Amino acid sequence: MRTKPLILIPFAIAALALLPAASPQSQVGANLFKQRCQACHSVVPGAASPLAPNLRGIVGRKAAAATFNYSPALKASKITWTKQNLDKFLAAPGKMVPGTRMVIAVTDAKQRTELINYLAGMK
Ligand code: HEC
Repeated sequence: MRTKPLILIPFAIAALALLPAASPQSQVGANLFKQRCQACHSVVPGAASPLAPNLRGIVGRKAAAATFNYSPALKASKITWTKQNLDKFLAAPGKMVPGTRMVIAVTDAKQRTELINYLAGMK
């Protein structure tokens, strides 16, 4: 009886060793979000911010659909936030939606992909 937990230790170590291999990509997106977006946006379900709309579940959602005082431009945009549209928007928000109050551009395409994949996981 007492030896059983000891037998499991190698398996536990093996499982831990596998974890980091599975997470770097999403970790990159999470870190980028923290650095570039979180000052204004939250992904915590239901968390309201006066600065920017909550981005929980943004992938697949219609633009300007959260509880937030959006710009008339974004409200009128009729965009659905597919991954492709998010990529275009983040590259140059004011170019895709002239008059939007979202002014943060992510010029690096790889960083945009990481961010969008991170957001896609925040359902
Ligand atoms: C300085 C504050 C600020 C930062 C930083 C910021 N945003 Fe925004 N974002 C806004 C505001 C304000 C809006 C609403 C724009 C409007 O109403 O036109 C917005 C809107 C958006 C929308 C559309 C939301 C919707 O409900 O339609 C997305 C997507 C978005 N931001 C993504 C991001 C991402 C990703 C980052 C980080 C790279 C980021 N934002 C950084 C202020 C910010």
